[in-house]
Amino acid sequence: MFITFEGPEGSGKSTQIPVLADFLRQRGYSVLTTREPGGTEIGEQIRGVIHDLKNTAMHPRTETLLYQAARAQIVEQVIRPHLAAGGIVLCDRYADSTIAYQGYGHQQNLDEVRRLVGYATEGLNPDVTLLLDLEVETGLGRKTDGEWNRLDAYAVEFHQRVRGGYHQLALEEPQRWVTIDASQTPEAVAEIICKNVIARL
Ligand code: TMP
Repeated sequence: MFITFEGPEGSGKSTQIPVLADFLRQRGYSVLTTREPGGTEIGEQIRGVIHDLKNTAMHPRTETLLYQAARAQIVEQVIRPHLAAGGIVLCDRYADSTIAYQGYGHQQNLDEVRRLVGYATEGLNPDVTLLLDLEVETGLGRKTDGEWNRLDAYAVEFHQRVRGGYHQLALEEPQRWVTIDASQTPEAVAEIICKNVIARL
């Protein structure tokens, strides 16, 4: 099973992923956790370029393509092999982040962006996507200086379009998406996530 975590900045994905991983491992599943962009040596180098606060001149199309380059690598090197071996993959962000951020956030043509994502993933889609939904201002406020990247510095309106994009994606595919109110305590969020995932397994 391929499970992805999505959500606006500061929604608590990186807190929740290890909790779900432990929960599933205790039940005997082979779980691999990873993140996007990154998760491979090449992908982490690309992440550095995309997120560098100095790269203010980066065009949205450049940004879109760099995310797909990192994604193609993680799909082939990490995600597909673990799924093929019968394991569960938990990924912190995946293709839906490109639709939400580069598509809705930058207001690029959604069909073109989807085609690029399809090329990068060769059609590998998540079985379940957990959307940790949160007010944009709350999420950005949760981020500390050390975590601040070039995308966090985009205007609040950009991040509001991203959140609206996620809501639209969840509406279009209700069988895949689980939307969770991430303003609750981490324990309450974890309980909802674990219940949902175990029910699907
Ligand atoms: P994060 O590790 O703090 O979630 O940072 C990843 C950032 O990259 C976040 O701002 C969302 C952004 N992103 C995209 O814009 N498009 C993508 O396809 C992915 C995977 C991430």
